[in-house]
Amino acid sequence: MSSHGRLGLAVLISGRGSNMLALAQACREGRIDARIACVIADRTEAADGLAAAAELGLETRMIEATAGADRSRFETALAEACDRAGAQLLLLAGFMRVLSAAFVARYPGRLLNIHPSLLPKYKGLHTHRRALEAGEREHGASVHFVTAELDGGPVICRARVPIWPGDTEQSLAARVLEQEHRIYPLVVGLMASGRLALTANGIELDGQALQAPIEVDSAAE
Ligand code: GAR
Repeated sequence: MSSHGRLGLAVLISGRGSNMLALAQACREGRIDARIACVIADRTEAADGLAAAAELGLETRMIEATAGADRSRFETALAEACDRAGAQLLLLAGFMRVLSAAFVARYPGRLLNIHPSLLPKYKGLHTHRRALEAGEREHGASVHFVTAELDGGPVICRARVPIWPGDTEQSLAARVLEQEHRIYPLVVGLMASGRLALTANGIELDGQALQAPIEVDSAAE
């Protein structure tokens, strides 16, 4: 816990920041017992997202990682900003930068990501297009602990959505995003209340090993 008492969250964004806003709303509504210590963006495309966070009264930082710039210098600035704000849990929310193994090692079990696919399927970019091109009947989103392997850390939770005939990349992305806004706050809420953790034995929920990711069914709404 930080000197502020409640668990501090750092939310890292590279784009419009809708997952960040869903997390902020869940904190406000008490579904996550934590406070957002800072919202950090790495590129100007996220300026609107940062402005939306500032409007909510959240502390914001732009730490631009310019092309060709030294990655370790960027990551040092990022870690300093998170630590100074009193953030213990780092949440990648549409953060489109691969973090080094050294950075990841600073935050063992304290770095989460949301990814728009049913991991381990479709790691990387253009997940909706690739799922459509492959003729999948379902797709979804996953929340996972971040390790040095891109989109390869232990998966905590997945939400499935059906793929309908006539779906486009946009329609599918919108359906998946709705589920992202459900499962990210759900997982962070479990972490904040101490029910979920990454231990030497893997993911534990309520003191028991999580044998398979928590599955959230979009039809169950
Ligand atoms: C979300 O769909 C998120 O899953 C994805 O970027 C989008 C960000 O939207 N993340 C990745 O692709 C990470 N590899 P948002 O800025 O509105 O939260």
